[in-house]
Amino acid sequence: MKKTVVIFSGAGLSAESGIPTFRDSNGLWENHKVQDVATHDGWQRNPQLVLDFYAARLAASQNTEPNEAHRSIARLEEKYNVVNFTQNVDNLLERAGCTNVRHVHGTLFRRKCQNHWDVPSRPEDKFSCNYKADHVEAVKLGEECPKCQGQLRPDVVWFGESVEMGYEEIHRLIKNCKNNDGTFICVGTSAQVYPAATLVDSFYGLRNKYIVDLNPQPNGNYTLLTGKASEQIKLLADRLLDAI
Ligand code: OAD
Repeated sequence: MKKTVVIFSGAGLSAESGIPTFRDSNGLWENHKVQDVATHDGWQRNPQLVLDFYAARLAASQNTEPNEAHRSIARLEEKYNVVNFTQNVDNLLERAGCTNVRHVHGTLFRRKCQNHWDVPSRPEDKFSCNYKADHVEAVKLGEECPKCQGQLRPDVVWFGESVEMGYEEIHRLIKNCKNNDGTFICVGTSAQVYPAATLVDSFYGLRNKYIVDLNPQPNGNYTLLTGKASEQIKLLADRLLDAI
């Protein structure tokens, strides 16, 4: 049976494809107010601004290519059971050939109804719809849900909304990695947003675990690989593939 490699990634994985990170200088949060473009309140105040923000991010994602880090992760599938958890809303891992990608902060390539029930409900609101659809074009103001006529929105996770994490699956993966000497790799994330830090810490008991970043924060007995994701992930993937 193939050994398991679990990879948890953030914006640094796609940075070398030209997609800006969030907290680096000139990052998305330096140039936009989080409250305006990534919260339910911002959406209610000015949906056009929110749609413009995500339309620009969709265009950036469509007008670029996977980099060496994405391709090296895909290459691992030749010999490993690779499970990707990514905070990135682009589709560069899939376009590099990865077949098992969970988007914990949603994806730009799917839309949902603004009344979708995975948006946490407040007593005064009606979040009762289940409409979601894959789509390659940006959502426009006035585009309505075919089920309930609610305004459509990108299927991304905003602050205050639930992340798409299957904790049971993660516990199974940790157990599986421990039993078959699997590997955990965290790449290109500042791990400042829930559930990043929790997820990274939950792989603590594993023998083989790496943090890859331009500026990795020391974390227990993880092996820190400092540098560009394209270079460090390529070296690590070569090593893991040679080991089998
Ligand atoms: P951040 O911008 O917080 O962190 C990016 C990380 O990537 C930093 O640690 C950088 O040092 C590192 N980095 C940058 N370029 C790199 C490169 N070429 N190679 C390796 N590392 C590099 O982005 P995230 O951690 O992904 O959430 O942010 C997590 C979440 O916070 C996002 O998904 C977003 C944001 O608020 C939502 O919008 C809900």
